[in-house]
Amino acid sequence: MIEKIRTLAWFAARPAFWAHAAALAARRLAPSRDTKAHRAEATAWAAARARPLAEALAAMGLDPPSDGLPALPAPLLAEASARAEAAQVRMGGPGDLDLLYAAVCLLGARRVVETGVAYGWSSLAILAALEGCDDAALASVDMPYPKMGNEAFVGIAVPERLRARWTLVRRPDRYGLDSALRVLGGTVDLAHYDSDKSWQGRTWAFPRIWAALAPGGLFICDDIQDNLAFAEFAGSLGLSAAVTSAHGKYVGLLRKPAA
Ligand SMILES: C[S@@+](CC[C@H](N)C(=O)[O-])C[C@H]1O[C@@H](n2cnc3c(N)ncnc32)[C@H](O)[C@@H]1O
Repeated sequence: MIEKIRTLAWFAARPAFWAHAAALAARRLAPSRDTKAHRAEATAWAAARARPLAEALAAMGLDPPSDGLPALPAPLLAEASARAEAAQVRMGGPGDLDLLYAAVCLLGARRVVETGVAYGWSSLAILAALEGCDDAALASVDMPYPKMGNEAFVGIAVPERLRARWTLVRRPDRYGLDSALRVLGGTVDLAHYDSDKSWQGRTWAFPRIWAALAPGGLFICDDIQDNLAFAEFAGSLGLSAAVTSAHGKYVGLLRKPAA
């Protein structure tokens, strides 16, 4: 009960999140598609398709060069780890940084949108891959987890020198995604989804992100084993998804056909 009151107080102090709080409350009344059975089905779907990163990228038409996949510079990662450790807060875990860095480079992406920032590991990988591209930009959406007191540390992994081409929209997806897409001119080359993992959150966001993806663009979704949202979305498009796995979870990739 006390936790519920604290959650209510957290939202009450943040008018920008009231509509999101109402949507979360309404969600509880709908039949859940985030059940153990659905998770097991989604895990089996992902496991049956999982392959090494280079193969998954090749399946999306992004063939690795003969000298190997482009990789996030180790010193940059070490520097970010030191900053994240010093922050001493608890936040969501990282996306697949090797995948993100390589995908941005191989695709030649210039406009990237992501949902879910937390420490900002994925933002770091994307921004590092965009470095040196004059017209490139990343727009990220993040609503911090309620009551964790970590708002000031969101994106802490990203060093100041990589922030010039970064816009961080501190709103729930439902209100921040459109703003982020507007910052990028409405069309993106690559999208990374790593925020609201619920079936409802994903089924709301996926079609909107897909509509904003340029022909030939790449959609990446983290933690696809959580529920069937990604598998069903791929099925609804009639497209073959690639799946890779990192840190015990599965990541899905979908490429929009070129025009
Ligand atoms: C797993 S973490 C993201 C990790 C990040 N991509 C990285 O690689 O470091 C998920 C983040 O999404 C945020 N989030 C959860 N639900 C959200 C929503 N509905 N709208 C926006 N952000 C949300 C969480 O507060 C958290 O910061």
